[in-house]
Amino acid sequence: MTIRVLHVASELYPLLKTGGLADVTAALPVALIEQGADARVLLPGFASVAAGLADLRPIARLSRSFGAPEASLELGRLPGNGLPVYMIRADSLYARPGNPYLDAEQVPYGDNAQRFALLGWAAAQLAEHADPDWAPRIVHAHDWHAGLASAYLRAAARARGHAGPLAGPHSAALHTRSVFTIHNLAYQGIFPAQQFDMLGLPADFFDMHGVEFYGQLSFLKAGLYFADKITTVSPTYAREIQTVAQGCGLEALLKGRAHDLVGILNGVDYAIWNPAHDDAIATHYSAAHMGGKLRCKTALQARLGLAQRHDAPLFGVVSRLTEQKGLDLLLGALPEIVGRGGQLAVLGTGDASLEQGFARAAQQHPDAVAVELGFDETLAHAIVAGADVMVVPSRFEPCGLTQLYALAYGALPLVHRVGGLADTVVDASLENLADGLATGFVFERFEPDALAAAIRRAFALYARGHDWRETRAHGMQQDFGWAASAQRYMALYRELT
Ligand code: ADP
Ligand code: GLC
Repeated sequence: MTIRVLHVASELYPLLKTGGLADVTAALPVALIEQGADARVLLPGFASVAAGLADLRPIARLSRSFGAPEASLELGRLPGNGLPVYMIRADSLYARPGNPYLDAEQVPYGDNAQRFALLGWAAAQLAEHADPDWAPRIVHAHDWHAGLASAYLRAAARARGHAGPLAGPHSAALHTRSVFTIHNLAYQGIFPAQQFDMLGLPADFFDMHGVEFYGQLSFLKAGLYFADKITTVSPTYAREIQTVAQGCGLEALLKGRAHDLVGILNGVDYAIWNPAHDDAIATHYSAAHMGGKLRCKTALQARLGLAQRHDAPLFGVVSRLTEQKGLDLLLGALPEIVGRGGQLAVLGTGDASLEQGFARAAQQHPDAVAVELGFDETLAHAIVAGADVMVVPSRFEPCGLTQLYALAYGALPLVHRVGGLADTVVDASLENLADGLATGFVFERFEPDALAAAIRRAFALYARGHDWRETRAHGMQQDFGWAASAQRYMALYRELT
């Protein structure tokens, strides 16, 4: 039987993206369809989503609107691949330009609880046949934004249980199973306890065994507590989040649910991230024809105003500039790069102190350091293509996609051994080099000297042209395509149904 699965999320590339979540919600449903699933997506009707979907048509009026004058469901398609996408139309909640979570002053919107409660509730309504033509067997919710979906499903199932035995077309909710994927445990969707009442959930759900978290309301905890299965985006992160150090206060819950928790590595959409076909980069290249890589580097240096030196190892960063990403450590290690004749290209946006720190470094070393503050998909591709090394020194990293893109583009990833970074990059130690296993540089301790040592090792390998090329070629041969991960999700869905 075909498995009908609804992915519930707040971002979808290319319509709306603030990070890797959007890449995943775009690629995973398509990979699941290739594995035989019937997959659809549900998104809030943010301005760019409403503008970007093709063939939108009304499906149903929603009976609850969480403060909006009205709310309805529409169904459209993603241009390009035709992926079916449901969109919640509630303009007063969603139709705001820019960042989906924060206002122009970078402050979370005051009505975020309403905005994302509607997302979870609408998912449960789809399970209740809000669309008479299609209802999911599996509701697969991503991150705190969609965390209430499984709570509403549980509430509906319980109400039906109380109402008596299964009967009629509307009994589906009892059979709808839920999966919750943690892309980042640090973002929890915490709101004051008073907001619980407007959710319309059973009163006893506001409990330690429920959505309550240290006296407040947590959308993330709703997902973790009520979902039938929990996944996260790498095996190592699945282990790390069960520890006090990385559990963000949820380690006990996660440990208690360890038998329902699995780490499934993200993949790369090679239709979008492939230097042999990428129209965002200066020249195409591939592992067999690497000539274009140098032209991409030269083009990047020209575009960013860096000295045109093909022999200078070029380090790249494409990242949200937040505490998580560990870029304060890189700022500290900058002399290690510049002093040895290397270059650094940074594309990012986020914390003011990091933005200022990198901007200052670029002023001090205009030939060697270039910084672009903002979100720029095309430049992101150009940096990964032009860089010799991509630096991802994250404090924690659920999976990380940039190091995977780096591998595909022949830029050696330099990463902290944590989360998905630990699962995807093999350090260029002498023994790994000797065995032909190395793909990048991995440092153990989150300390300035450990990062500095990894940077020195990158310079040393760069000076050994043959070994560098071997390592780069081995990295480019790695297959992180979505098929393997999609098969794991399919197995999980089958277990549930
Ligand atoms: P996270 O989701 O934690 O931000 P990932 O490595 O999983 O980290 O994914 C980041 C995604 O966002 C990648 O697709 C990366 O290219 C992209 N990205 C991050 N910052 C920028 C930026 N400033 N401009 C363009 N793309 C960016
Ligand atoms: C989160 C994580 C990142 C992961 C991405 C997609 O934003 O920070 O590590 O790759 O989600 O799952």
